[in-house]
Amino acid sequence: MRYLEGIVLKKWSAAVLAGALAVGALAGCGGDDAGSGGGGDDKLVMGFSQVGAESGWRTANTKSIQESAAAAGIELKFSDAQGKQENQIAALRSFVTQKVDAIILAPQKETGWDVVLRDAKRANIPVVLVDRGITGSPDSYATLIASDFVAEGRMAGEWLAKATNGQCNIAELQGTTGAAPAIDRAKGFREAIAKHPGMKIIEGLSQTGDFTRAKGKDVMQAFLKSPNGGQIQAVYAHNDDMALGAIQAIEEAGKKAGTDIKVVSVDGGKAALDALAAGKINCSVECSPRLGPQAFEAVQAVLNGQTLPKQQVVKDRLFDSTNVQDVMARKDYWE
Ligand code: AHR
Repeated sequence: MRYLEGIVLKKWSAAVLAGALAVGALAGCGGDDAGSGGGGDDKLVMGFSQVGAESGWRTANTKSIQESAAAAGIELKFSDAQGKQENQIAALRSFVTQKVDAIILAPQKETGWDVVLRDAKRANIPVVLVDRGITGSPDSYATLIASDFVAEGRMAGEWLAKATNGQCNIAELQGTTGAAPAIDRAKGFREAIAKHPGMKIIEGLSQTGDFTRAKGKDVMQAFLKSPNGGQIQAVYAHNDDMALGAIQAIEEAGKKAGTDIKVVSVDGGKAALDALAAGKINCSVECSPRLGPQAFEAVQAVLNGQTLPKQQVVKDRLFDSTNVQDVMARKDYWE
């Protein structure tokens, strides 16, 4: 079974895969071990290397990919890298050795993928990136399905500028160092607040909370106790989990989250919308984790010999007090 120069010699034709995706026929999901050996003769076998389970977003993303694979009758070899790039690289190597039909990769960091992606390419195994982009040659992957993280950061910054009339001292909880959403959300936010001389990120109060609730809380606690802690008027968290951790720290410090200190985050999941409805988060920019259907459509297209655009941007919305009730009433959110 090979993917060769756009010609697919497969167990299933792409048309059959398309049918399965459309019908959504339920079948068992594949194993959870990247090293568990190849699949049977009549199923597509794919590898999925996931970053870990650091956030609610990540769990929802894993579920979306696994459900889409099951609906298409694809055997999915799932590997949870537990936040370590080296585990992802080892999983990819294992997928190549097992001669999977395609690989879906949610890369932890932007850099460091050149060698393993070259090996996948040499083995004629197409790679579809989901969630996060990478640096390096665009020839090393088929397409990237992801949100525009710079735009998300910009939306968050513009919202805060409007809400504070351009006057605000900000603490920032950054995502995992080196990850595309941490780099890009910082960039977009800075672009937006740079237009407002009265807005600044307080010196020393921008640190990584690694996209987790526990670290978000710890870092916010340290910020509040620091010499500049009294200046904080808003916290910009690169994801909902860190924002929810920060809220705990703010409350334990005897302050009102959402009022004494505004809270702005990214992801827009159900937990953040609940906090928004309770007035503890002021704004959350959506980042949809439901990438499974698009990821398998992309795999199907690639196995069918099509060339895809290098990036397929997922559209995001912004949630605040003006639309949260409506969104919750329609259950138009991820959880
Ligand atoms: O790459 C997407 C980010 O990773 C989400 O915003 C965050 O919650 C996750 O951990």
